[in-house]
Amino acid sequence: MAGRADTNIIDIIKEQHREFRELMDNVRDTTVDDPGERLRMFKLTRSKLNSHGRAEERVLFPRMEQDKRTRPAALEALEWHAASSNVMKGVAGTPLESELWLPKWLVARGIIMTHLDAEEARALERIREAFSPDELERLGKEFLLAEEEIIEERKGR
Ligand SMILES: [Fe+2]
Ligand SMILES: [Fe+2]
Repeated sequence: MAGRADTNIIDIIKEQHREFRELMDNVRDTTVDDPGERLRMFKLTRSKLNSHGRAEERVLFPRMEQDKRTRPAALEALEWHAASSNVMKGVAGTPLESELWLPKWLVARGIIMTHLDAEEARALERIREAFSPDELERLGKEFLLAEEEIIEERKGR
């Protein structure tokens, strides 16, 4: 088992979720007095969440959809992703100096936090039971590669 924790998709996703919780708190703690910092933190958080979510959609959810034990959790996660990107668009479309910016961000953060918890409790626990350790490791490697590709694709646009 040595080294397996490095590329197991469950560990990779949980570690990234931990970082997102921190980043989202940092965005919440920015103030209207420093819109530059607020924008910088928001963009960083949004782009990291985006590459993570796209990589889940590219590598993990299609595999989960093939197995009836994991399919419901994948379908649920896709709905959370759609809801999250909608609220994120709402935040991005609101002027930083508006008094509505923070309320919108707090709701976006709440939806995303709920999704991260739900994904860990359902999707990740289901795949731990359903998929072999070798497959979890293979998916982890593919997830990291997909994330890199997604970041490259975004640069190219
Ligand atoms: Fe996730
Ligand atoms: Fe997700």
